Amino acid sequence: MDKSDSRRLSVSLIDLGEGHDAEFDTISLHFEALLIRKEYGRAELIRDEGYPLRFYSVRYWVSAGAAEQCHRDPEVQMLTARLYQIARVTHVVNGVRRVDAVRRLLDERRARVEADRRTGFDRRVVDLGRPEGDRRAKNDRRLGPRRVRDTAAEVDLIAAARRAREHADAAFSQFKVGAALETGDGTIVTGCNIENATYGLTICAERVAMFKALSEGHRVFLRIAIVADTEAPTPPCGACRQILWEFGGNLEIQLANLKEEKGTHQLKNLLPLPFDARLLERRTL
Ligand code: THU
Repeated sequence: MDKSDSRRLSVSLIDLGEGHDAEFDTISLHFEALLIRKEYGRAELIRDEGYPLRFYSVRYWVSAGAAEQCHRDPEVQMLTARLYQIARVTHVVNGVRRVDAVRRLLDERRARVEADRRTGFDRRVVDLGRPEGDRRAKNDRRLGPRRVRDTAAEVDLIAAARRAREHADAAFSQFKVGAALETGDGTIVTGCNIENATYGLTICAERVAMFKALSEGHRVFLRIAIVADTEAPTPPCGACRQILWEFGGNLEIQLANLKEEKGTHQLKNLLPLPFDARLLERRTL
């Protein structure tokens, strides 16, 4: 019987090198059989229709303990080592990480955001553009119940930023940066720095991510991960702090390099005494 819990899953993105299909098939079959034989859970491989060499490896775990045991299993480690030689693997969703206090707070905040009728897509039946304001009349009912997000799986924001960094266009500084922004509804929007010959028109990874997100309609943000290939962490520059503050508020900022996490900050501590729209409202004419 399949005892795996479909909500406790891990997902990895696999970009296979050319000419390794047979080896990849063997590894995948072994891995799938192993997960079942040792009762860790089950694995499924999905090919990306758009990119023939891209796959999504989904693992449904029996429990968090089973997942941890599987990761420590020498047989699994051997298969993984072989896979890493022929493919680039990015862990996208980690469904078994132990939930820490900060994480729980964020998830609760996200659930509140989702439940808040003023955010997300407009679920009202009729347009409310009436002169007396934004109050709802009786017949302006929300369509369907409020949704509260399932928080079982967790998106690996740093992995997403590392991946985005690979698209950086840093021909002048050779300093590639990646960013991944998590919105109120759990969407991940990524960015990378884009330089150009005038130097001054360069735009940082963080602002690319934020402007992309805004242009796609997102208005609520929870955290941003920033990745560069340096030993010391790369915090956002002054201009980015301003933009992140104005559109994202007191975001959680996760810094990391290609190997490890380098600390978490709150934006309010990186931008003390901020200037924002609230101060414009207090001007004397
Ligand atoms: N850069 C970012 O994209 N984000 C940061 O947080 C710091 C700096 C970029 C801008 C420029 O393309 C390069 O890194 C060197 O400054």
